[in-house]
Amino acid sequence: MKEKLESLLSRVQNPLTHKSITDDKLLIGISPDEKPVIELKAGGDKKWQLAIEAQLRTLASKEGIAPDGFKFKWSEAKPEVTKQGPVSRPQRSIPGVKKVIAIASGKGGVGKSTVSVNLASTLQQMGKKVGLMDADIYGPSIGKMLGLYGRQQLDVRDDRITPVEKFGLKLMSFSFLVDEGQPIVWRGPMLGKAVEQFLYDMNWGELDYLIIDLPPGTGDTQLSLAQLVQTDGAIIVTTPQSVALLDAGRAVAMFEQVNIPILGVVENMSEFICSHCGKPNHIFSRGGGSRLAASSESVLLGQIPLVEDAMAAAEKGEIAVYKNKNKKIEPVVDAFTHIAQNVASLLER
Ligand SMILES: Nc1ncnc2c1ncn2[C@@H]1O[C@H](COP(=O)(O)OP(=O)(O)OP(=O)(O)O)[C@@H](O)[C@H]1O
Ligand SMILES: [Mg+2]
Repeated sequence: MKEKLESLLSRVQNPLTHKSITDDKLLIGISPDEKPVIELKAGGDKKWQLAIEAQLRTLASKEGIAPDGFKFKWSEAKPEVTKQGPVSRPQRSIPGVKKVIAIASGKGGVGKSTVSVNLASTLQQMGKKVGLMDADIYGPSIGKMLGLYGRQQLDVRDDRITPVEKFGLKLMSFSFLVDEGQPIVWRGPMLGKAVEQFLYDMNWGELDYLIIDLPPGTGDTQLSLAQLVQTDGAIIVTTPQSVALLDAGRAVAMFEQVNIPILGVVENMSEFICSHCGKPNHIFSRGGGSRLAASSESVLLGQIPLVEDAMAAAEKGEIAVYKNKNKKIEPVVDAFTHIAQNVASLLER
């Protein structure tokens, strides 16, 4: 176990130097206990430490070592390394909501909404209270993905909208306000107002997580969000090929500019699992997610395979990871379990 952890640490990257933990001589030692304690030199802030821990947990779980089969100890704490961007972060938060996570991408169609819905559901099944807000005004898709087609009957109390509840999640989407197929004509400044109302004029109640599904790119909604609410982290969704990474890199840069920390990268459509033979095929090349994680000084939270039945679930208004007995979807369920555990361990300490 000790040797295995040591060799895995040589594959863990220091997010600040892009060299391995071993090359940077950060490893002080590993205790030979049944549940080893890995002692490392503290050379960065809390987020930096968590980024390293998450990388090792990811590698370890691939080797069959349980993510909680070992512990970390950080020694010789150095002054915190923090990045200061030009925009000061808002202090405003939503009463009762513990953590706000934004799901973003550089380009469209990479699976943000899929990640939002399935991550929300996985966290909910882990016992968390989860809200999901669809901030994609021009192309809201959360409603359709959850079988809530078109306008919904919304309960308004004390001038606050009660979110729609389904699959154990609290939901709000622009599609709940308009008839299906109706064009949405809000523009510019109204957009910021709309995002503000979705955050603050809602009865979200007590939530462990509010997950916000953003539209693609680096536009007004993202900036409104940054100005309106204290966001604990953004998850960047990308596909593995380098063209997608260029766009994803722009999204990372934007979040850094507005001082929203990048929680990590989710690589979607990492491999295609054939629905006939079950064999994986890397149709979109490999390794993009981890490259983006390294360049954004964050972590690869997980990789999701492309599975036809997962898409079919969304088409039917079902959540792939929710009470789904379909064996073919299992790799997707596993991927989201892993991602949700990483997200929880990054945010809940
Ligand atoms: N891992 C996957 N396996 C199978 N299908 C997937 C997977 N990820 C996404 N899809 C499908 O790909 C399509 C696009 O995904 P999704 O709507 O989540 O992307 P998006 O990034 O939110 O798009 P947009 O930029 O338009 O908001 C959907 O039909 C979805 O069901
Ligand atoms: Mg979407």
